[in-house]
Amino acid sequence: MIKGKIVKVSGPLVVAEGLPGVKMYEVMRVGTPGLIGEVLELKRNRVSIQVYEETAGLGPGEPVVSTGGPLSVELAPGLISSIYDGIQRPLDKIREKAGNYITRGLYIPGIDREKRWKFKPLVKKGDKVISGDIIGEVQETTLITHKIMVPPEVEGEVVEIRKGEFKVEDTIARIRPSHSRSTVSLSMLQRWPVRQERPYKEKLPPTLPLYTGTRVIDTFFPITKGGTACIPGPFGSGKTVVLHQLAKWADADIIIYVGCGERGNEMCDVLMEMPRLKDPRTGEPLMKRTVLIANTSNMPVAAREASVYTGATIGEYFRDMGYKVAIMADSTSRWAEAMREMSGRLEEMPGEEGYPAYLAARVAGFYERSGRVICQGQDQREGSLSIIGAVSPPGGDLSDPVVQATLRMVKVFWSLEDKLAYQRHFPAINWLNSYSLYLDNIEEYLSKEVAKDYLQLRSEAMRILQEEASLEELVRLVGLEALSPEDRLILETAKSIREDFLHQHAFDPQDAYTGIKKQYRMLKVIIKLFRLSQELLKEDVEFSKLLKLKVKEKISRMKFIDEKEKEKFDLIEEEMTREIEEKRSSETKI
Ligand SMILES: Nc1ncnc2c1ncn2[C@@H]1O[C@H](COP(=O)(O)OP(=O)(O)OP(=O)(O)O)[C@@H](O)[C@H]1O
Ligand SMILES: [Mg+2]
Repeated sequence: MIKGKIVKVSGPLVVAEGLPGVKMYEVMRVGTPGLIGEVLELKRNRVSIQVYEETAGLGPGEPVVSTGGPLSVELAPGLISSIYDGIQRPLDKIREKAGNYITRGLYIPGIDREKRWKFKPLVKKGDKVISGDIIGEVQETTLITHKIMVPPEVEGEVVEIRKGEFKVEDTIARIRPSHSRSTVSLSMLQRWPVRQERPYKEKLPPTLPLYTGTRVIDTFFPITKGGTACIPGPFGSGKTVVLHQLAKWADADIIIYVGCGERGNEMCDVLMEMPRLKDPRTGEPLMKRTVLIANTSNMPVAAREASVYTGATIGEYFRDMGYKVAIMADSTSRWAEAMREMSGRLEEMPGEEGYPAYLAARVAGFYERSGRVICQGQDQREGSLSIIGAVSPPGGDLSDPVVQATLRMVKVFWSLEDKLAYQRHFPAINWLNSYSLYLDNIEEYLSKEVAKDYLQLRSEAMRILQEEASLEELVRLVGLEALSPEDRLILETAKSIREDFLHQHAFDPQDAYTGIKKQYRMLKVIIKLFRLSQELLKEDVEFSKLLKLKVKEKISRMKFIDEKEKEKFDLIEEEMTREIEEKRSSETKI
């Protein structure tokens, strides 16, 4: 343990001297209260430390002590349903101990040391194990079985394996490495440095979609298991609502929600709502598969910087067990601002908009922790980690450095537009600018699992929306009446795609989530009506007749059809065909 003393305090940055031998990113306890900080810069005999707690009252001469290790998270049963701050301090436990305000220098481990978990061994004495192998499991919540894995860089023969109820630090197994006489004791607790990616065997292509239940995402701009997406948008355009929707409904096994520098009351909404909401697949409370990391705007800035890495590390740990994990980070702009603040205080050369020159590298480093992988271990289990980040550029300006650095990395772009939000078209994802580069990857899966013509319907709908955009200009110039019936049909259909399909109310219990098969049926109905109407127009039926179809009323209420009532879609299609036929015969009679 090396002990030095403070020479300068500047907001969250503390400079200390007399600390020979400390390393970059080592964790330090700073000042008399023992605040937690991390080494950011080493310059001659001076050490600059980013302190994760409020530094008011700290002064020169106070002690600084090294802890000898990098910032790490604790990984063990007890993670799920936890609410942590940016450096994995359990907020609920802190509240019990210190009241409503976090006492500085308070250290409570991220994982409860006293709780006993029922450990079920899955290997026997004499088995050979390598790192990543699952040696046993704990039923952590009704939804999640926590797999206890051999930690990285340990392998050998199992000489002892226990069964029963244990605390996380108790020895549950002993392994003898080959060519060694001594043994390694394993407990259920692992530690991992947050800034380092956890190892895996092999990366796999992103061929499986991650369904979110949001129609504009799943059908138009899908993301994959192990994929990355960003959702930039101006103030109030619906970033947080979209991320909440994803946290609630995405078909991942585990959700990690990182609230990074956003409003406290929004985080509060998540905390209040999650335990009440039930998973549509299992009927269990969603909180039983969720880890929350809260570093709201009123909490110290520096811990924001750490919070996304804490989230990524916990995510990778569950990925390694073979789970499908998704991280939502709201907002990565606030994270980048924390970086900018520290960089400014370190007097580094500023890059674009004052952000540090390494901004792009940091953003890339974060999103690169995503992926679908073959996990370490002898079995070929597969896990994935998807990362979705909100970006809040000032004024919604997409040329903002954080947006640009993010767009270079991610494969899906959901562009939120304030114009749509003002029109109350939610989610306000602009269908003309947004994109997903995963469509080719998931084409095969979708045509097998959903329907052969699903992506074809999607392209047709997309084409109609694009044509609408070019026709709008014409309508402004010459008026609606001057358009050809074919063009008017395009406008009518585009309106139906927008209002009956893309528009989705996040707070309506029936509309909030739409399963993928229902999405397909909805789109199919709209496109079928379009095709039948096109035929009628070819037969010179008047366009005005098409506007009067009664089935349109039913189409507008399609979203409220229950997932299970597939026959209702058959009925709509039948009614549509019948009505079109009637129009056709009435026309021929005249
Ligand atoms: N899908 C939706 N359905 C219904 N209302 C929505 C939807 N999305 C957004 N809204 C409305 O828009 C408001 C603002 O959304 P939100 O808080 O998500 O914006 P934001 O982009 O996160 O803003 P900020 O930049 O301030 O964080 C919400 O309170 C809600 O009323
Ligand atoms: Mg928000």
